[in-house]
Amino acid sequence: MVYMGAKTKIAKCIVPVIQQKIDESGARYYIEPFAGGCNVIDKVKAQYRIASDKNEYLIALFRHLQAGGELPEHITREEYNEVREAYNTKSSGFPMWYIGAVGFLTSYKGRFFEGGYSGIRKTTGGIRNYYKESRNNILRQMQQGGIFDIDFACRDYKEFTPQGCVIYCDPPYEGTKQYGNAKDFDYVEFWEVMRKWSRHNNIVLISELQAPDDFTVIWEKEADRSMKAKEHFRATEKLFMWGDKRLAE
Ligand SMILES: C[S@@+](CC[C@H](N)C(=O)[O-])C[C@H]1O[C@@H](n2cnc3c(N)ncnc32)[C@H](O)[C@@H]1O
Repeated sequence: MVYMGAKTKIAKCIVPVIQQKIDESGARYYIEPFAGGCNVIDKVKAQYRIASDKNEYLIALFRHLQAGGELPEHITREEYNEVREAYNTKSSGFPMWYIGAVGFLTSYKGRFFEGGYSGIRKTTGGIRNYYKESRNNILRQMQQGGIFDIDFACRDYKEFTPQGCVIYCDPPYEGTKQYGNAKDFDYVEFWEVMRKWSRHNNIVLISELQAPDDFTVIWEKEADRSMKAKEHFRATEKLFMWGDKRLAE
């Protein structure tokens, strides 16, 4: 799914690292508490997979598609504005999955009602119909089969009390522009929870650009993290685990 902060580009590198941890440990449960567009979990194999995110509209959208629900062929700017208004004023009238579909698939770059209506635009590469691209993208993701048996949950990550699981966390990155529910993210608390889960017999892998000193880099790669087509800035994507290198292996 086209999603803000998606790991689509590096999924082929990090999924084997995660998969190795599941296979070697024999863990039955794999959890993603910051599942977003499910661009990592859809490629991971485990007996039980749980995708959770704080955004209830996102989870409603995936559940709708999992149940065989369809998506609108087209969403006009007027429909976008109407649904955004309903979302901003918390008024009912639209199903949650529909608000999710309009918010994520129609907002520019998948930035839930913050990127503006993407519509159909003339670009240097030709005319682009952004909703159609996002719609095709998520429908392809569903057809590829990596989503159908995932258990979806809508929770704040702190509500999990896992034991004996492999957990991959992809929180909103510290120091990067934050959107929606990520604006007040408490990073001190986040790393504390990562330590706690790691102590409780879980294998916890974290995507971030930086981490406190007691976390070890187990994988890294330079990647393009630009949000706009014309902007290019490169950053080193990393996977961290708590403890020293020997413990993380
Ligand atoms: C960087 S995105 C995850 C992207 C995903 N890995 C992908 O490749 O599509 C971070 C996600 O964390 C979610 N989030 C932010 N704060 C959260 C919290 N306190 N608990 C759970 N999810 C949260 C956001 O809604 C967002 O979907």
